[in-house]
Amino acid sequence: MWLFAAQYNSICSKTLTVIMDSQPDISMSQTLSIKMGFRFCCMSVQQNNDITGYLTNLIKSRHMDRRSFIKLSSFAGASVAVSTGLAGCTVSNSANSQPQTNATFTHGVASGDPLKDAVIIWTRAVPDSGAGSGSKSGVAKADILWEMASDADFANVVSSGIVEAKAIHDFTVKVDVAGLSPARRYFYRFKSANNTSPVGETRTLPEVDVSNVTFGIFSCSNYPAGFFTPYMEAAKDDNIDYVLHLGDYIYEYDGEGYATEHAKEIGRTYAPDNDTELYTLTDYRNRYALYRTDEGLLSLHQNKPFIVVWDDHEITNDTYKDGAENHQADEGDFYARRAAAVQAYYEWLPIRPPFGTERLEIYRQFTFGKLLDLYMLDTRVLARDKQLEYANYRDAETKTFDQARFMKDIGNPNRGLLGETQRNWLHSSMQQSQAKWQVLGQQLLIGRMLFPVSIFNGVERKAIPDHVHRLANIKRKQKQGGALSEQEFALINTVMPYNLDAWDGYPVEREQVLMQLKSIGKPVIALAGDTHNAWHNKLTLKDGTEVGVELATPGVTSPGMEHYLSMGDEKAKTLADDLPLLIEDLQYCNLHQRGFMTLTVSQDSATATWHYVDVILTKAGKVVNTHSFEIKA
Ligand SMILES: [Fe+2]
Repeated sequence: MWLFAAQYNSICSKTLTVIMDSQPDISMSQTLSIKMGFRFCCMSVQQNNDITGYLTNLIKSRHMDRRSFIKLSSFAGASVAVSTGLAGCTVSNSANSQPQTNATFTHGVASGDPLKDAVIIWTRAVPDSGAGSGSKSGVAKADILWEMASDADFANVVSSGIVEAKAIHDFTVKVDVAGLSPARRYFYRFKSANNTSPVGETRTLPEVDVSNVTFGIFSCSNYPAGFFTPYMEAAKDDNIDYVLHLGDYIYEYDGEGYATEHAKEIGRTYAPDNDTELYTLTDYRNRYALYRTDEGLLSLHQNKPFIVVWDDHEITNDTYKDGAENHQADEGDFYARRAAAVQAYYEWLPIRPPFGTERLEIYRQFTFGKLLDLYMLDTRVLARDKQLEYANYRDAETKTFDQARFMKDIGNPNRGLLGETQRNWLHSSMQQSQAKWQVLGQQLLIGRMLFPVSIFNGVERKAIPDHVHRLANIKRKQKQGGALSEQEFALINTVMPYNLDAWDGYPVEREQVLMQLKSIGKPVIALAGDTHNAWHNKLTLKDGTEVGVELATPGVTSPGMEHYLSMGDEKAKTLADDLPLLIEDLQYCNLHQRGFMTLTVSQDSATATWHYVDVILTKAGKVVNTHSFEIKA
């Protein structure tokens, strides 16, 4: 979760206060050296040149404590050693086999992780007999028939079999259906002795030649915040071939927590047995079960294959490799909580474990012929080092900000989001790619979001939009040839990263990744979610060289900057016009609307379109406006 959307996050609130209280005093000459050097500053800059050289050396010499990583991975593997029924549960592949167990399909169907010859299909089948439902059912398993056909009427069934839905997997079922043809639509369904599931539609990946591919791109669906209208609208969009979900598929908070203001009035409260923050396997399973009653989400899963990665809230807020902001010492063992969350994720989402077993490693590649390679990355759970906080660098009594220590820590070559193994995998995969476009599916804004320091310097939250407008007008005057005073120049050119939870908080590894992207020499699009707002950034090295484009999708329902800054629509639109003037790499943003993004990639160009819905507090919402941008290859 990012700072501007984190009004319920005490750490983020503290961070903002620190910045406001710090009263930076930076002269114009210092400001110039900031912009020419490391491209961001904090409070004083006398060490700027040294820091620039230091960081350059760090980038060249970066290495990771491999033993620490192995230790983490080993522990992670042991802690999530689960099976979700994907492997070894198909008890028969005979089309003549018939299921013998009465069972009900409680949560529709889903498909995901398509390959050129395979796709995962999913359902949940709870035996009818037994006490209660779900994991409390008295019956341990049910035999379920699955069928894959090339037509919606199932006249031509191309593959089928019997699979067991087991209590130990929360009665979720996943089948990796192989032997399919490339670039084909398929239809699938499940049968128990007395019920048939809805028919799902899915699609394999192209093998070689493909003229274009369209993705629907989503993040941050928060059940109590509203109906999942963007999912429903996308489900009806015949242009979307595949869905990418960039995380925050669920939220872990309780019924009084984040974004629950309208939950009661719209009937989106939690059941009494799931009204707490999520800690246990049962907690996480029940939350997924609730989310998968939303009509929009059900429909989108039924109609499109998903390719997913998690963000933090599938575990808990601001997760990193060995802890989380929203996990306290009195809330039990973090690793046990994470293992429960990961198990539920593998059970409820149509993901193929990329390393064969359900491990923490979910980074993986999808090849769309020679058109594009998609790399789904994990910047959260597997290898992220703990976020820095401005609050930890301010003296409690003197309020002095310890810039030298901060710069040393943020430039630490051992800090990262991806970690060495994942980063090297990404680089070697891109080097071997035969495809034209390189697309990164990941969680966090990677573009530099460097805001003028004065925005945080004693300006009340509600007054920020007007303050930004004054700064933007200074920039407009400069663009029109007007002379600026030293103070005006400093106001618009003294900048700082405001969200240390994003890639801005890990600049050394970001520079490494961006340099890898440059070395590939192919068109690059980085996708992001997490912020609940829409963004379009240039991706630039610290020397300004452009290496690609970043496109960030708005939240499905989670509130965005309009909520944090208490802005009406008009003020939010003005702020969205102002920010690209002040943030060097920012090209476009939308700060007040929920929705989703589509991306159509063809040989010569790619078109990003942001789709915004009018309302999420009723089921009647629909897409009412869009914004598009074309990227030339
Ligand atoms: Fe989110």
